[in-house]
Amino acid sequence: MHSLSHLLLLATLLILSLSIIHVKARGKTPSQLVEEVCSRTGDTSSFCTKTLESDPRTSSARDFRALAKIALDLAVTNSTKTEAYIKNMLKKNAKPGKLKSALESCVASYEETIISFRSALVEIDEDKMSANYDAKVAGDGPLQCDQALESAGVKVESISMANQITYRFSVIGVEITDLL
Ligand SMILES: *[C@@H]1O[C@H](CO)[C@@H](O)[C@H](O)[C@H]1NC(C)=O
Repeated sequence: MHSLSHLLLLATLLILSLSIIHVKARGKTPSQLVEEVCSRTGDTSSFCTKTLESDPRTSSARDFRALAKIALDLAVTNSTKTEAYIKNMLKKNAKPGKLKSALESCVASYEETIISFRSALVEIDEDKMSANYDAKVAGDGPLQCDQALESAGVKVESISMANQITYRFSVIGVEITDLL
């Protein structure tokens, strides 16, 4: 009787440990998830890897869904800060003219980009095709802003650099939602 229950306990423990080993072998480490996403972005500057690895939440990401939420959350935060930066510059350049119009156009574009990143973030759990689409559309904002500055004949290096970053976030968002 005693030996039978011991045997049962032993068998249970054996099955349990085998299934844990199995799950571990199948699951990817956070670094592997990041690597897989970033290798798809064609980004040679390691922006993608650095950005995702620098977030403390990434070390506990167990799947692409978790990583997608982190990436799009970072995209929302980052593009919101960039919009605030442009708005601030607009305040300092209140004088009507080409620069003012271009900055206004950039703010409007970023408004759309932020909405798109936010939608994509929410859609990760609901509708991954929409999440993928919205992550793509979010990339239009920085391109339109670049275009507005160029047509106005003004160069604002800090905004051009921010636009590149925002665009890269869009690419990361597209690739990561494609893996869901
Ligand atoms: C956006 O993120 C990038 C990469 O982490 C960072 O270099 C940049 O300063 C951020 N931009 C803003 C406005 O916070």
